[in-house]
Amino acid sequence: MSDSTITPTGLRGKRAVVTGGTRGIGLAIVRRLAAQGAAVVTSARKETDDLPDSVRLVTADLSTREGVAHLADTALGILGGVDIVVNNAGGASGGGMPHLEGYASLSDEAWTEAFMTNCLAAVRLDRALLPSMIEQRSGVVIEIASTVARRPAGALLHYGAAKAALVNYAKGLATEVAPYDVRVNTVLPGLVRTPAMDLVARHITGATGEDGDAAVHMMVQAEGAPLPGTTEPEDVADLVSFLVSDRAARITGTTHVIDGGALPQV
Ligand SMILES: NC(=O)c1ccc[n+]([C@@H]2O[C@H](COP(=O)([O-])OP(=O)(O)OC[C@H]3O[C@@H](n4cnc5c(N)ncnc54)[C@H](OP(=O)(O)O)[C@@H]3O)[C@@H](O)[C@H]2O)c1
Repeated sequence: MSDSTITPTGLRGKRAVVTGGTRGIGLAIVRRLAAQGAAVVTSARKETDDLPDSVRLVTADLSTREGVAHLADTALGILGGVDIVVNNAGGASGGGMPHLEGYASLSDEAWTEAFMTNCLAAVRLDRALLPSMIEQRSGVVIEIASTVARRPAGALLHYGAAKAALVNYAKGLATEVAPYDVRVNTVLPGLVRTPAMDLVARHITGATGEDGDAAVHMMVQAEGAPLPGTTEPEDVADLVSFLVSDRAARITGTTHVIDGGALPQV
């Protein structure tokens, strides 16, 4: 039976790979897993000073086969194995910027970049890291998708379709690896206050300076969440830290929406 106690060090001894951990949601997840005692390797294309001292950063472009292979090989070398994989890299900075003119303005290149970073990067990293989890008969994978996967938006067809593919893939993968006690779950955030969200708000409205904050506020209002306030990166990190823990030992093949209640469908 798993330990059901909530402790600040509940992930001690776990080895985690979190992609896109230098900003926003990924950084919050990295901080939370490290604070709970996990050994964490993260990745991004650019360096940052914001990571906890214990966390190792691998610079790699995950939209490429070579970038994902470099991360997988380096992480396995550093950690000696892996218990937790969080595929988070992507979003606006990973080919998911809105194309305001709609479907006709989405080129092959835009579709390809969105799929490479928001779907194929996760598929490739899972393929590289799952064998060690299967061999040890334990592990957990989290795919960070988006509520756009369930609520297509004209300016984000490429990004939404890539995230929808990720959700579908994760469900099938969960069934395939469950006999080895490896779990796979998907998290669908709505709007989360991150650097990427600021970028998108300014891109959509052309706002600069303090007007950018007003643009973010407008986007949050337009999303229509019945709960007051906004979803913060730390809220998503809370959900992820639960899903990767032994307290979620019976949860696999599920999708978890975290959007203040905005998504209308059942
Ligand atoms: N913020 C939201 O409202 C929201 C809503 C729903 C879903 N999400 C999802 O949540 C995840 C994180 O979003 P965020 O808002 O936190 O984004 P963010 O602030 O832009 O951070 C994205 C992270 O991913 C890395 N990254 C992006 N493209 C990469 C690439 N090609 N190769 C390697 N690393 C890459 C970035 O580092 P570098 O730029 O240095 O590479 C950064 O560390 C994404 O998957 C996004 O789709 C976000």
